[in-house]
Amino acid sequence: MRNPHHRAGRLRSALLAAVLLAGTALAVGLGVGRPDHAAAATSLKSLADAKGRDIGFALDPGRLSETAYRQIADTEFNLVVAENAMKWDATEPSPGQFTFGQGDAVASYAAGGGKKLYGHTLVWHSQLPNWVSNLPGPDLLQAMRSHITGVAGHYRGKVVAWDVVNEAFADGGSGGRRDSVFQQRIGDRWIEEAFRAARAADPAAKLCINDYSTDGVNAKSTAIWNLVRDFKARGVPIDCVGLQAHLIVGQVPGDLQANLQRFADLGVDVRITELDIRMPTPPSAANLAAQAADYKRVVTACLAVSRCAGVTTWGITDRYSWIPGVFPGQGAALIWDDNYQPKPAYQAVKPLFHELGR
Ligand code: XIL
Repeated sequence: MRNPHHRAGRLRSALLAAVLLAGTALAVGLGVGRPDHAAAATSLKSLADAKGRDIGFALDPGRLSETAYRQIADTEFNLVVAENAMKWDATEPSPGQFTFGQGDAVASYAAGGGKKLYGHTLVWHSQLPNWVSNLPGPDLLQAMRSHITGVAGHYRGKVVAWDVVNEAFADGGSGGRRDSVFQQRIGDRWIEEAFRAARAADPAAKLCINDYSTDGVNAKSTAIWNLVRDFKARGVPIDCVGLQAHLIVGQVPGDLQANLQRFADLGVDVRITELDIRMPTPPSAANLAAQAADYKRVVTACLAVSRCAGVTTWGITDRYSWIPGVFPGQGAALIWDDNYQPKPAYQAVKPLFHELGR
C-alpha cells in the first residue's frame, strides 16, 4: 500500500511547480524582471542575423556619446547608414576638397561593431553645395564624376551598397524625371553616368537607385522600374532599388510587396531604406497601435520577398527624428519613443524576423 504522506507530498510539489510555472508565464507575459542580457539575446539584430537580412538605422555620429542611443545602436541593428555625414555638402563642401571626418566616424562605428555600412548618397539635388549648382553642364558632369570617384573611392571595400542616385524622379503622375540641376544641364544620361562612375570607383559595392513615394505601384515607381529594365538591357551597372518608405500612419500601400517583387523580378535587390511612419503629435494610443500594424505590414512585405535585403529605419528615437522639422505637427514616426522606450511598433516587428522569411 502506498504511503499517504508520500502521495500528499507529491501533490504538494506538483501544486508548487504549477504555481511557479504560472508565475513565470505571467512574469514573461508582462515582461517583468526580464534581465537586459536576455532582451539583447532576442534583439532585432540577432533575429535578423539569423534570417540573413539587414536591420539598419540612420546614424548621427554626434549622438553616440548618449548612453541610451549607443546601447540601442549597438544591440539592435546589424547595418548602419549615415543620416547626413556622407552627403555631398558634408564630403566635398568646396571643389576637390574632400572632408571625411563625419563619414569616417560612421564607417568606423560600423566596422567596430561588426555592422554593415550602407552608403548614402552620392548624387542628390538636396544638401548639394552651391558651387555645384552653379556649374555649367560640361563642368557639372565632370564635377559629378569626380565627386563619385572621390567619395566611393574613399569608402571602397567598406560599404555593402551605395545610393548612387537619390530622388531623381518627379512627384505626381508624370512618370518623368525631377527637374534637378543634373537633369537640366546634363540631360537624361546623368543617371547612367553616375552609375558607371560608381562601378569604376568601387566594383564590389552594390549600386542602388533610391526614392520616396515609390513604395506602391504608381507612375513614379514605374518610371524607376522602366529605368532599371533599360539599364539591365543595355548593360548599365545597377544592382538594387531602395524604397525610402517615409510613410503616414494608416497609409501603407497595399501593393508594397507586389512592388518589391516586380523590381526583384528584374534581377536587382530591393530594400526598405528610410522607414518611418508619422502621425499627428502628440501620438494617440490608437495611432500607436495602427503604427505597429503598419510597421508589421512593411517588414512582412520585405521578408516575403527573397531579394529584399532588409529594412532600415530613419533613426532610432522619435526624439531626434527629422520628421517634426519637415512636417510640422507630425512625428512619433520611429520605433523607440522620445525617452528611448520601445513602442508597440518595436514589439510588432520583432517576432516577424523570427517567424517569417527565407
Ligand atoms: C534628412 C535628414 O534626416 C535630416 O537630418 C536632414 O536635415 C535632411 O535630410 N530622404 C533622404 C534623406 O534621402 O537623406 C533625408 O534625410 C530624408 C529624406
